[in-house]
Order: sequence, then structure tokens, then C-alpha cells
Amino acid sequence: MRKILVIGIGAGHPDHITVQAIKALAGVDVVFTLDKGADKQDLVRLRKELCDRYIENRAYRLVVAQDPVRDPSVQSYTARVQSWHEERARLYEQLFIKELGESECGAILVWGDPSLYDSTLRILERVRSRKAVDFDYEVIPGITSVQALAARHRIPLHSIGEPVHITTGRRLDPKLPDEGSVVVMLDGEQAFQRITDEDVDIYWGANLGTASEILRAGKLHEKRSEIERSRAKVRAEHGWIMDVYLLRKNRSG
Ligand SMILES: C[S@@+](CC[C@H](N)C(=O)[O-])C[C@H]1O[C@@H](n2cnc3c(N)ncnc32)[C@H](O)[C@@H]1O
Repeated sequence: MRKILVIGIGAGHPDHITVQAIKALAGVDVVFTLDKGADKQDLVRLRKELCDRYIENRAYRLVVAQDPVRDPSVQSYTARVQSWHEERARLYEQLFIKELGESECGAILVWGDPSLYDSTLRILERVRSRKAVDFDYEVIPGITSVQALAARHRIPLHSIGEPVHITTGRRLDPKLPDEGSVVVMLDGEQAFQRITDEDVDIYWGANLGTASEILRAGKLHEKRSEIERSRAKVRAEHGWIMDVYLLRKNRSG
């Protein structure tokens, strides 16, 4: 039966890849990558570098396919994402049928870890439920951008015994909880700008693990303009930016 390995590759630093992932890559016949457009070429390049580094003594095939775009005419966000997932499921189905032999092993390299804001596992379940191609799959975990952020700032994600809430910029409630920390990902709009409370600390990181990494930490109201400028600068210089940040109310005064 065809086998697919969903491998978390870490969120930017090539050394974040785990020994389990390296061992898994060594036995792969085909690596599937979705091309997400010109401004994401660095991400395709990083995946290619990892393959060249770790798939030794083996002629693997790299299959790059065009990622379907979300249909902007679909009004509801959930419906738009669902139809995009269906498109991706059809694409993977075709790729597995055409590009992967029945006893071969394919890999999908997922940024960070597949458990966090990544649709690969949901899409593979869709492909299986369509029943046009039979395959098994396994997940190999990776370092998430949230772990990379915490490591670079040398902080635990939560205060003692308190919860952590992970959300997106779109869903960030500007009224932060009195207890607990909030991690924000996928924030295209600098949602932290909506927070007016002056007793909030921010730990911000952009392009973590890469040559263009930037870290900022301190009181949100003192750091917000600097973060805004840094974001614009990185985007102008590299064509893309990925940032993640942790917010929490400072109760020590
Ligand atoms: C589609 S999600 C993928 C998350 C990924 N699966 C993970 O485990 O981190 C993309 C978001 O992850 C965060 N992210 C991923 N890599 C990052 C990096 N190197 N530096 C900062 N944020 C990153 C950003 O919030 C970005 O918008």
C-alpha cells in the first residue's frame, strides 16, 4: 500500500528538524510540495535544502504542484476554507495516483508541526474518504513556531499554573483575560494594535530561525510602533514575513 509521511520540519531553522524526521526522510521515494506563489519561494527552497541534506544515497523525486487559491467569491470564511480543502484533496489524490507507486513512500513536509494551523491532516482524511486512492499515513512531529518563539525569548508560555490560549489575529479578543497568556498566529493585520490596556507585555518574533529573524519584547504600548516598523522593513526586504507573539497582562505592576 502507498504510504505517506507527514513530517513536521520546524518553523524556519534547518536544525530544528528531529532525528525521527531525518530517519523518516532517508526512506522517502517522493516528496510532495505545494507551491504557494512567488513570495513563498524561500519556503520551497528550505524544504528542498532539507531533502538534499537528509535524503542520502537515494534518488528521490521532488514533485511541486501549484497550490489551489481560495475562491474569493465564496462569502463565508468557513465555506471558503472548506472548498479550498476540497480542491487540495483532489490535487493530492491525483498526485498520489500519478506520482507515487503502489508500494512507494511519499512525504509531505509541513512547516512547524501539522497539529497547529495546518490543514494537511484534515485534507488527507478527505482524500481517504473519497476512496479513489488507497494509502496509509503517519505523522512525525516538528518544532512549532510557538515553541521557537518561547525558546528565543527564553520564556515559558504560561505563568505558573495558568492557561495558554492560542488563536489567530482575526480572532484575537482585544480584551485580554486577567489570568493566562494568549499566543497569536496568522496575524496579517497587526491585531495587537486593537489592545488599549497599558499593562500588557508582548513577546514578538518574526521569521524565527531564519537569517531575517527579529525579536522584540516589552510593554505592548511602548513596543507597538517599533514592531510595526520592523514588520514593514522585513516585508520590504524579504518579500514575506511570518510573525507570532505572546501577550499577557503584567500583574507585577
Ligand atoms: C499556517 S500557520 C503554520 C504554523 C505551523 N504549523 C507551526 O507549527 O508553527 C503560519 C503561521 O505560523 C507562524 N509562523 C510560522 N513560522 C514562523 C516563523 N519562522 N517565525 C514567526 N512566525 C512563524 C506565523 O504566525 C504564521 O502566520
